[in-house]
Amino acid sequence: MCGIVGYVGNRNATPILIESLERLDYRGYDSAGIAVIDGCEVSLYKTAGSVGKLRQMIDLNKNGGCTGIGHTRWATHGKPSRENSHPHMGDKGIIAVVHNGIIENYEELKEELIGRGHVFSSETDTEVIPHLIEENYGGDLERAVALTLERLRGSYAIAVMCKDEPDKLVATTKDMPLVLGIGNGENYLASDVPAMLKFTNKVSYMCDEEIAVITSSSICIKNGSGGSVDKKIETVTWDAKAAEKAGYEHFMLKEIHEQPHAIRETLSGRISELEAEIKLKEIGLTERQINSISRVIITACGTSYYAAVLGRYLIEKIARIPAEAMVSSELRYGELVLDENTLVIAITQSGETADTIAALKEAKSHACHTMAIANVVGSGITRHTNNVLYTRAGLEICVAATKSFTSQIVALHLLALQMGRVRGTITPSQSKQIITQLRKLPGQVMEILEKSRGIEKVAVKYAANEHYFFIGRGINYPIAMEGALKLKEISYIHAEGYPAGELKHGPLALLTAGVPVVAISTYDNTYDKMLSNIKETKARGADVIAIADESDTNIEKYVDDVLRIPDTHEMLKPVLSAIVLQLLAYYTARHLGCEVDRPRNLAKSVTVE
Ligand code: G6P
Repeated sequence: MCGIVGYVGNRNATPILIESLERLDYRGYDSAGIAVIDGCEVSLYKTAGSVGKLRQMIDLNKNGGCTGIGHTRWATHGKPSRENSHPHMGDKGIIAVVHNGIIENYEELKEELIGRGHVFSSETDTEVIPHLIEENYGGDLERAVALTLERLRGSYAIAVMCKDEPDKLVATTKDMPLVLGIGNGENYLASDVPAMLKFTNKVSYMCDEEIAVITSSSICIKNGSGGSVDKKIETVTWDAKAAEKAGYEHFMLKEIHEQPHAIRETLSGRISELEAEIKLKEIGLTERQINSISRVIITACGTSYYAAVLGRYLIEKIARIPAEAMVSSELRYGELVLDENTLVIAITQSGETADTIAALKEAKSHACHTMAIANVVGSGITRHTNNVLYTRAGLEICVAATKSFTSQIVALHLLALQMGRVRGTITPSQSKQIITQLRKLPGQVMEILEKSRGIEKVAVKYAANEHYFFIGRGINYPIAMEGALKLKEISYIHAEGYPAGELKHGPLALLTAGVPVVAISTYDNTYDKMLSNIKETKARGADVIAIADESDTNIEKYVDDVLRIPDTHEMLKPVLSAIVLQLLAYYTARHLGCEVDRPRNLAKSVTVE
């Protein structure tokens, strides 16, 4: 969840580290720090608060040295404070360390080290690392790190520097993302690519237990058994501008507006000329395997989980395979009955969510077929399954997911259609009908975006409410949950998503005068039931905002406000409704003056359990 960066070269490291950290602060931002080697001194700057605060503390023009490491923290062990912020150093002040992850056996290591006279200055698990490295250090930093790793249990991405070897960084990882950046006469490391995009687009992803020794002119990597590793260098095609707001007030709004492109990209090259077939070579399942699948489990966290719930409906409806969605933290410890005829699909934007990766590993241990629907190429999850269907939504910075969600739904449609065609549960003409509408989606998203003003008006009208309800049935139920999640994440209004049929079993007790209820009531076989639910809520004095089809001229009679989506195939309506709800949440949060892109207590990538 934290972000780490490193630089070694011939330039002043300090401004480079600060800029890199600023691009990583979506990983966590409760404290920040850097350490730079200046001649034979390690200069340490740390603070509770944002990287912006750290920037203000430092004289960026003063050349403090050309080798450094930095960290932006999201607290796990120890409160956000200067003492607990990274980098951490040992007793002798020669080793500095930044770490992302959790050292599970830190308490026993700390006790042991204190017993040998070490003095600790923080409550973190991390601090045992520099103390151990210092003990193991005999003039060779790489060896000291390797010896230290033998003592660590847990997950980590670590960058280390040593006052006595000032032109070098040593980095290693286990179950945590770590990327090396290759520059010209200088090299970088970071938890994620955007941190270094301004400086280089040549990157290499580190694998578990590798140790990299990085100097300005070389990167030497060894695997866990000490053998040299020849790493592939990849060229990242995102430019640094993509990581900026491109004129929008917030990343969230920019990313909402990028959805036509994200959907088009996700479809690109995957639909055949004949328009009746889907080509997803990457899912790695033969026709025989698709036919032998008897159960599908889709697992994910957060917004991706709501895509999973929707995926469950799509796979059951289109491919007629029993399917269920499971929150990854439940699956990983669930002691489920799984077998080789079960397909487990992990959905994750970042590809780094710890619970989602663990759930996929659990499925593998039961010999299930596994696949991932991921957005970040080369991310952690892609090392645990060869079958990855990428969503191609591009870089998503705002903590609240938007374009990744609708791209996930589109990818799930493609998957369900491919499986349905192979299993013969959907005819070519039914498939063609959906595909034709899928192609029209980007244009229809544009239509919604052009009408955002109307959504903003409704958002402002209800922004003062403390509670909000979202209801839907069938494939609209996950959208109701996602609508509620979006609103609570960024506006801090209490919001609940409910299957509309469950209103009578609890929520009605809370529906008093003026409480807004968003009813996703697009045409499908439950439309009449939704109208009854709307009447029930109106009878209690609630205000109803309907999400309805363009062609529905009936709904106005029953509700207070209507937000419309263009007419499309009923299975694709969730994509359009989700975008309306994203805008509703965005304009509410903006009206309330909330920090839209970085909601309190939340982080973009949850890389710890
Ligand atoms: C965090 C983010 C959410 C995201 C969830 C799952 O909670 O704040 O926006 O939906 O993690 O992330 P993933 O990268 O696995 O989709």
